[in-house]
Amino acid sequence: MERKRIIIAIDGFSSTGKSTMAKTLARRIGYAYIDTGAMYRAVTLFALDNGLTNGDGTVNETALTAQLGEIAITFNVNPTTGQSETYLNGQCVEREIRSMRVSSMVSQVAKIAAVRRALVAQQQAMGRSKGIVMDGRDIGTVVFPDAEMKVYVTASAETRAHRRHDELVAKGDTSTTYEEVLHNVMERDRIDTTRAESPLRKADDAYTLDNSHMTIAEQDQWLIDLYDKISEGTNDGNN
Ligand code: DC
Repeated sequence: MERKRIIIAIDGFSSTGKSTMAKTLARRIGYAYIDTGAMYRAVTLFALDNGLTNGDGTVNETALTAQLGEIAITFNVNPTTGQSETYLNGQCVEREIRSMRVSSMVSQVAKIAAVRRALVAQQQAMGRSKGIVMDGRDIGTVVFPDAEMKVYVTASAETRAHRRHDELVAKGDTSTTYEEVLHNVMERDRIDTTRAESPLRKADDAYTLDNSHMTIAEQDQWLIDLYDKISEGTNDGNN
């Protein structure tokens, strides 16, 4: 059965495993996957590498806003791994944008209205022909309020900090303690949910997925079942 292509919005707190589940779902159903957090991270890396910070280490909003036109973010599939990777002005930054240096600054950058406007416009353009899975904080509320399938992912802060810490250790970063990661997770939750610009919140028509006690296989199945249910309900009717 040919199904109508839809937009799938996956929002939620950081380190809930959103990206992993969104990627798996996209691969299984043949959709493109867009990691919008990576876009905010790439802008943050640009700010850090170009000295767009103030003496106290905060982001220089005026300078960054003035240089937004200089930032080109694209996604390319790595032919060896088959994974999509983030490029900033033609350079692969997939690894660097996941560092603590970027993680500790990204919430500050993500609350700048001009940054959000620029990135949201790019995200909307990417979804024009549908058939995408996009993950972030405001996808179901701001970027695609009419998305056919919306999921809001949550898990306890401790569960998420353990996951992020394990990830850093697996990448060889042993300089960051679990407590530091937990602090970073909680601080980002606070900024993400209380900021004035598009704070993280569940869209009224989103399905909540609390994966604190779920295996990856269980959450993948949960998502595919929901996709089957929704996409069957939205098929073209001519097949
Ligand atoms: O999902 P992530 O941890 O890679 O996101 C990085 C930061 O970017 C996070 O602090 C929230 C912000 N973000 C956002 O404000 N809106 C999005 N659509 C995606 C991410």
